[in-house]
Amino acid sequence: MSVEILKQGAEGRLYLGDFKGEPCLIKERFVKKYRHPELDTQITRQRMKAEAKASGRCLAAGILAPKILHSDLNTHKLYMEYFDKAKTAKQLIQEIVASQAEEQAKKSLLEFCTRIGGIIGKMHSNHIIHGDLTTSNILIDPKGGDYDIVLIDFGLSHYNQATEDKGVDLYVLERALISTHSEQPFLFENILAEYRRTCGKDEQAVLSKFEEVRARGRKRTMIG
Ligand SMILES: Nc1ncnc2c1ncn2[C@@H]1O[C@H](COP(=O)(O)OP(=O)(O)OP(=O)(O)O)[C@@H](O)[C@H]1O
Ligand SMILES: [Mg+2]
Repeated sequence: MSVEILKQGAEGRLYLGDFKGEPCLIKERFVKKYRHPELDTQITRQRMKAEAKASGRCLAAGILAPKILHSDLNTHKLYMEYFDKAKTAKQLIQEIVASQAEEQAKKSLLEFCTRIGGIIGKMHSNHIIHGDLTTSNILIDPKGGDYDIVLIDFGLSHYNQATEDKGVDLYVLERALISTHSEQPFLFENILAEYRRTCGKDEQAVLSKFEEVRARGRKRTMIG
């Protein structure tokens, strides 16, 4: 039987399969031979648990994420809802830039950033820290003439009220946008504008933490 592989990497692979007769996506993590076996098992299990927990928390808070259908800690496989028509935010941004006239592209991107900022704000106001916010970990699922935004890849996520962790989450996203979408330097500030409106009462504290993390990042870059 042939399996359709979505992604094959050093860390693991994603492929289409089924759970109790329903089609789903299987995310399998590989054993890392270079790591101590016990430590490797511990890290893998921790990431799988984090992924399942955060997806559930998001869904409970009204934030879209794949439903986790089953988690097999022994074979390191997570069975989850598959969004078959979705593309990543990275792909969408690149398509908008390639296919629309400059003015229109900017307008579409700004609308898109507003949606993303709102969702990240909502996620943080529910104290969910994603841990790896990049445009490859945000899916766009077309819905009629509109689209849904689905957050994925929660292996590095955790639950924490600390403003520091939220600030780091934003910083990771800013770095990812700068490196992946350097031609559109305005994306992050527009995401942040909507984030401020939705992230809740500790908005100011999170933003000052973010500035602090950013300053630390700059210092590190300067030192090398
Ligand atoms: N539930 C899903 N439905 C549709 N496509 C998905 C889904 N989950 C992942 N994908 C696609 O597969 C890609 C890789 O998935 P994911 O980000 O979860 O794995 P990863 O980056 O290899 O994980 P990790 O960083 O935890 O090792 C995504 O960028 C996306 O294109
Ligand atoms: Mg990913």
